Amino acid sequence: MEKLIINGGNKINGTVRVSGSKNAVLPILAATLLIPDTCYIYNVPALRDVYTMLELLKYYGADVEAGECLKINCSNIQNRPPSAMVRDIRASFLIVGALLGRFGRVSMFMPGGCKIGQRPVDLHLKGFGALGASQSLEGGIIDISGKYLNGREIYLDFPSVGATENIMLASVTAKGRTIISNCAAEPEIIDLANFLNKAGAKITGAGSDTIVVEGAPALSGVSHSIIPDRIEAGTFMLAAAAAGGECRIENIMIDHIRPVMSKLREMEVDIKEEENALTVYADGIVVNTDIKTLPYPGFPTDMQAQFTALMAKGLGTGIVNETVFENRFMYVGELIKMGANITVEGKLAVVRGVEGLAGAEVNATDLRAGAALIISALAAEGKTEIGNIHYIDRGYEEIEKKLSALGCKIKRVKCP
Ligand code: EPZ
Repeated sequence: MEKLIINGGNKINGTVRVSGSKNAVLPILAATLLIPDTCYIYNVPALRDVYTMLELLKYYGADVEAGECLKINCSNIQNRPPSAMVRDIRASFLIVGALLGRFGRVSMFMPGGCKIGQRPVDLHLKGFGALGASQSLEGGIIDISGKYLNGREIYLDFPSVGATENIMLASVTAKGRTIISNCAAEPEIIDLANFLNKAGAKITGAGSDTIVVEGAPALSGVSHSIIPDRIEAGTFMLAAAAAGGECRIENIMIDHIRPVMSKLREMEVDIKEEENALTVYADGIVVNTDIKTLPYPGFPTDMQAQFTALMAKGLGTGIVNETVFENRFMYVGELIKMGANITVEGKLAVVRGVEGLAGAEVNATDLRAGAALIISALAAEGKTEIGNIHYIDRGYEEIEKKLSALGCKIKRVKCP
């Protein structure tokens, strides 16, 4: 068991380089299952979820060579019964579309919910069904088979990121044209489409609300660099806004971070932007505002907890409306232990800014909740101990090293 110990009240100063995107690399790792050749993937973040996904690829027989460049060859993979490993990360359900496209059949444990919501996969299954795959569920294992998938028009009732990605993976080698309408438009979808097109797929429209996939006979190995993680970038921006100071954030794609940047500017945080970097100039005081999470290009739900933590010590009141997930305020109780004044009513949180926060013993309830606690701890007076930091390690590479290099008083300790 490990904890993060943070002594708040220190200003942030320095430069941090953002790692590759967790939510881009996971679907791309799943996509390698479609490719009977060697793929060279760069800028892969060192995250727990990445290691879990790589173990899963190896379970199916992929050759994996980690290093500066991640080398994966799925020429000799075999279809196998589902591995319990898939229960460790939800994104593992993305291998279903790839295995269905590669083998015409796949069995997988139905993913359960998680802390932030029920996380159904009905839209994924609707897409596979539309392509002609039959499905049967027994004992919590879903068996999907469709030897010859045929392209179809598929309407997504909600622009689900995972369903969009899974249907893309299943349809890249299907016969004919697949149209995915009302699909997700996140930058990670574009990165997946770029990766697949380099392998010989024919995907257009990624980043819009309609993706068209023309079936390709076969795919070959590619070399690809993962886009920067826009949520990690946003998290460091808010850490600087909360602690105060000057923080330069490098290796970003500025357009991916616009929703976060506009909100911070609304909160009177000064940001100087460049093409692949930005600098936050903050005095540690923000003016609270309202936040409503929406599918991209709306305000990202993955930044909701971090903004609530920032506003806990802001001026005035802010209303946070979480429209994407049904249970993404669990961390509020932990912020209240630090003196925050936040009331949650269903999908709304009313954040009344307080003069100051005080360090306390708190626990991360999920990945982004953990990031929120780090932000509040940096702004709080005194010492904060954060438990359950394995959640944080799922999505942030060496978080304490990066924050220490920015002048934060943070350390990771082992505890019994
Ligand atoms: C991806 O999850 C991200 N994860 C999440 O990031 C992110 O919060 C989410 O997209 C939204 O942006 C990865 O990319 C690995 P969804 P995903 O399918 O694909 C409902 C993080 O912190 N829905 O867009 O699971 C669902 O219940 C993580 O990095 C259905 O109803 O998200 C939810 O309410 C957390 N039926 C909404 O859509 C379905 O079949 C959004 O889910 C699928 C989803």
